[in-house]
Amino acid sequence: MRVLVAYGSKKGGTKGLAEAIGEGIEESGVTVDVMPADRIDGLDQWDAVVVGGALYAWMWHRDARRFLKHHRRQLREMPVWVFSSGPLDESAEEREIPPVGRLGSWMNKIEAKAHRTFGGRITAEQRNELPEGDWRNMDDARQWGREIAKAVREVGPRTEPLPEQESRRERRLRNVAAALCMFTGLTALFGGGALILSPTGGASLGLPMSLLEGTPFNTYLIPGFLLFFVVGVSNLFAGVRLIRRLTSADMYAVAAGGILAIWLVTQMVMLNTVAFLHVLYMVVAVATMGTAFGAWWQRHRGEERQPGELVQGE
Ligand SMILES: Cc1cc2nc3c(=O)[nH]c(=O)nc-3n(C[C@H](O)[C@H](O)[C@H](O)COP(=O)(O)O)c2cc1C
Repeated sequence: MRVLVAYGSKKGGTKGLAEAIGEGIEESGVTVDVMPADRIDGLDQWDAVVVGGALYAWMWHRDARRFLKHHRRQLREMPVWVFSSGPLDESAEEREIPPVGRLGSWMNKIEAKAHRTFGGRITAEQRNELPEGDWRNMDDARQWGREIAKAVREVGPRTEPLPEQESRRERRLRNVAAALCMFTGLTALFGGGALILSPTGGASLGLPMSLLEGTPFNTYLIPGFLLFFVVGVSNLFAGVRLIRRLTSADMYAVAAGGILAIWLVTQMVMLNTVAFLHVLYMVVAVATMGTAFGAWWQRHRGEERQPGELVQGE
């Protein structure tokens, strides 16, 4: 049985807590590795994970947040404990302090076993930020480690291979698709909103009424609604889903890119002209569909790949 204790720490206080938790686990006869969270590439060698982060301005340390995000598919399949280190007073000793911000919902997603908040530390070198002091209870951290080791033994070693983790390529593709969707979504809301607010004065966007000749529309009201609600909302919806890594986000983004492309082709046919913005947004539409489909494809391939097989470029 082997347990990973990963941490995100700026000034070493959380690292110290991770080491104390590690000592508690090791005392109980379970092998343990204590490592910085940003140094972990995959979790195949461990049976259980403890991950902790320092708190800065009500945020969990970035390395710890990224660790949960990047390894979520594997973490979901193994027992996970989470801790935070922060409060510069006795509050962590006196009561349970719940996980900050979205950490609670991330813990639910990976079905984490439990969360603990330990006190924090301010070193002499940080004194100009806050008064120096150490509120970390190392005995408590060691004891928590012993409890974790006991629970890990009860669960027993992992028997199933872990699913493939998210590859860097998939992550990059998804981030580009998200940026493109947000760009389209926000600019479509802005453009559509302007047309709805001044349906006959499209001139504010440089659109003369004569442009509507030969189209079924007398004013820019309906095109404005379509741009706002169909193009804008669909792209924002897909962008937010991609950022929050919700299910089927990439397929929503392919659809949102498709909606933008249909919108552009319809316009070009109706107006019988091709403007610079049509070309620009057509490139965005194709890139959205391409990157979102690419992210889906990477994941799909990852799921089909045999566990342990190397992924090129990772
Ligand atoms: C600028 C700053 C902001 C902080 N914000 C919080 C906070 O929001 N919540 C909290 O509980 N602790 C907060 N702390 C305390 C730290 O979490 C504490 O010092 C912790 O031990 C730092 O861990 P590290 O040494 O691993 O970086 C803050 C400390 C500093 C210097």
